[in-house]
Amino acid sequence: MDKSVTILGIETSCDETSAAVMRDNVVLSNIVSSQYVHEQYGGVVPELASRAHQKLMIPVVREALQRSEVPQNEITAVAAAYGPGLMGSLLVGVNFGKTFAFGLGVPFIGVNHMEAHIYSNFIDEPRPNFPFLCLTVSGGHTQLVLVQDDFDYEIVGETRDDAAGEAFDKVAKMLGLGYPGGPRIDKLAKQGNPKAIDFPRSFLNEDRFGFSFSGIKTSVLYYLRDHHFQIAGKSSHDGIPLVPINEALMADICASFQASIVDVLVGKTIDAAKHFGVKDIAVAGGVSANSALRAGMTNAAMKENFRLFIPQIKYCTDNGAMIAEVGFRKFLRGSFSPFNVSAVANADLPVRSNEGRTL
Ligand code: KG4
Ligand code: ZN
Repeated sequence: MDKSVTILGIETSCDETSAAVMRDNVVLSNIVSSQYVHEQYGGVVPELASRAHQKLMIPVVREALQRSEVPQNEITAVAAAYGPGLMGSLLVGVNFGKTFAFGLGVPFIGVNHMEAHIYSNFIDEPRPNFPFLCLTVSGGHTQLVLVQDDFDYEIVGETRDDAAGEAFDKVAKMLGLGYPGGPRIDKLAKQGNPKAIDFPRSFLNEDRFGFSFSGIKTSVLYYLRDHHFQIAGKSSHDGIPLVPINEALMADICASFQASIVDVLVGKTIDAAKHFGVKDIAVAGGVSANSALRAGMTNAAMKENFRLFIPQIKYCTDNGAMIAEVGFRKFLRGSFSPFNVSAVANADLPVRSNEGRTL
């Protein structure tokens, strides 16, 4: 009898519709369809996201199955992200996942999205050793998580306002760069001088491992206002023409803003890793695709003798493979979800839970 474990992983928490097939911890396919419908609005419109997921879900799953060359009857379990995320979007993936699992007669496994980001570091070898510290930086979250063991987490630091990715997206919008902002700032910053403008670094002395990114966003806004530069593409204010930002200055603003975010992320992560005495550091979430963060973390980890883990770019931003990775591990523990599990109330990382240890 074939003893291999084959998981279909589904991710629909925000604006990426994704499905992946994983067999015994090897990714056979990982299809990600990004929704460009949001571009014209400068950000994700939840209702449009749900509708796009609805349209893309079946074609994306079909393609993931075709590419993997796995016939449907060889799927051992279906895993889907069940929070945190946009409710309407999550419901599409969760309901498709449950229905598909039910139809195939296999278990359904609900997966926490933040947990999946952490486990994106386990898709490829080498993998971090426990305990390790994970900096999870996405569009909705910025967390420093002490991962003591499989499915055993402690959040040691979080943002008190904007998430790092949110700051990238809001500043990009302000600069008239459109959505998604993070990758656009990253690209433009490559041509700029990170020391050109001295944007503040908020280290929050009273909250050693906490973050705050709303101040930096305001600093960029004040910088643009003080210099009468165009904000959010507007070319005049109260009838007074605003100065367009030329290419070289745009690159400098992007590089300087990015450096202020990266310095804080790297500084706090290294500080926490020393404080908690771990040897391994991992980075995850959409912002871990950022080239300056990857370079900054690599240099700092090397200097301070930590082993560093950052997923391949395709596993940093939302993807089905990371959902399948957690699904695989939960399957091995017999940790399945009932078919009436909801997409509500899974917003928090299951901190120090026994999830995955039951049965
Ligand atoms: O994890 P993710 O794909 O979705 C959420 O769970 O939120 O993260 C998306 C976030 C967005 O804010 C996006 O701007 C940011 O990740 N991001 C980046 C880069 N690629 C994606 N931020 C900075 N540099 C990048 N290269
Ligand atoms: Zn995410």
